[in-house]
Order: sequence, then C-alpha cells, then structure tokens
Amino acid sequence: MSDVRCTLNVNATARDTLVRVDATLLDVLRENLELAGTKRGCNHGVCGACNVLVDGALVRSCLMLAVDVGDRAVVTIEAVAAEQPFSDVQRALIDAGAIQCGFCTPGFVMALTALFARIPRPTRADIRTAISGNLCRCSGYVKIIEAAERLAARAP
Ligand code: FES
Ligand code: FES
Repeated sequence: MSDVRCTLNVNATARDTLVRVDATLLDVLRENLELAGTKRGCNHGVCGACNVLVDGALVRSCLMLAVDVGDRAVVTIEAVAAEQPFSDVQRALIDAGAIQCGFCTPGFVMALTALFARIPRPTRADIRTAISGNLCRCSGYVKIIEAAERLAARAP
C-alpha cells in the first residue's frame, strides 16, 4: 500500500505527514501526530471514543480516511484540554464526578463540546441524543447527563 504526503490542519496548526492511503484520521492523529488523547475503542464507528471535530461537526475519526480530510479544520481533545484550566464541559464533568476510568471521557467531551457550540442551553433530550453514540463501561451515564444539565442551567 503506497503512502501519500498529506497536510492536515489540526488544532489550528498545519501538520505535514506521510500517510498510508488507507489510514484513518484516527490512525494519523495517534500514530503520526502523537495526539493520543483521541482514543481507539471499537475502531468501527460504534463507541465514540475517537470523536473529533471536523469543521465544527462531530466526526468519528476511525471512520474517516486521513486523505479525505483535505483542508478542513480538525480539532482534537488536546485543543479543548488546552483551555485553562479546563473547558466548561471538562469542568462540569469533573464537578459532577462523571469520570471513572476516563477512557471514554475525551469522546464525551468532544460530543458535548459540539452540542454546546450548537445549542447553548440544551434540554435533557438534546443531551441524551448528543451522547447517544458514546459508550461508557463505567459510569452508567447518569452523572454525565447531570453534568451537562448543570452546565446548560448556567448558560445565559
Ligand atoms: Fe471510533 Fe469507536 S473507535 S467509534
Ligand atoms: Fe470508564 Fe467511561 S469512565 S469507560
């Protein structure tokens, strides 16, 4: 399988890298660009652990080929986590005790970040829909929903 040179716009930085033509965006983020905050769970589009934003839309990076990203802007958990000390979504999850092993957390953070960018005061139904593609083996989802509801309640 041949490699192709590809320039990806990741977290507002142009990243030039050599990728296999069949490499997914998740492969390239983790293996080429050393952005390991985006997790590989199922690798088949089921668990949401690999969520990133592409031009503001929530995308499962295990389902997108890196060569198909083009010049669209990719945002990963590393950019969200760089908001000091935490992003509002991260702080809400921490305050609600909504994190256990943490493996799924980056995917939830990205899903909720996309939701709050779209709907600043989401309803419980909006929240449930937004995280319906995310699997968590530890928490049972209740505290994650509570965290998002508390954040929504604080929106102007
Ligand atoms: Fe992509 Fe599970 S690793 S959806
Ligand atoms: Fe462990 Fe979600 S906190 S999988």
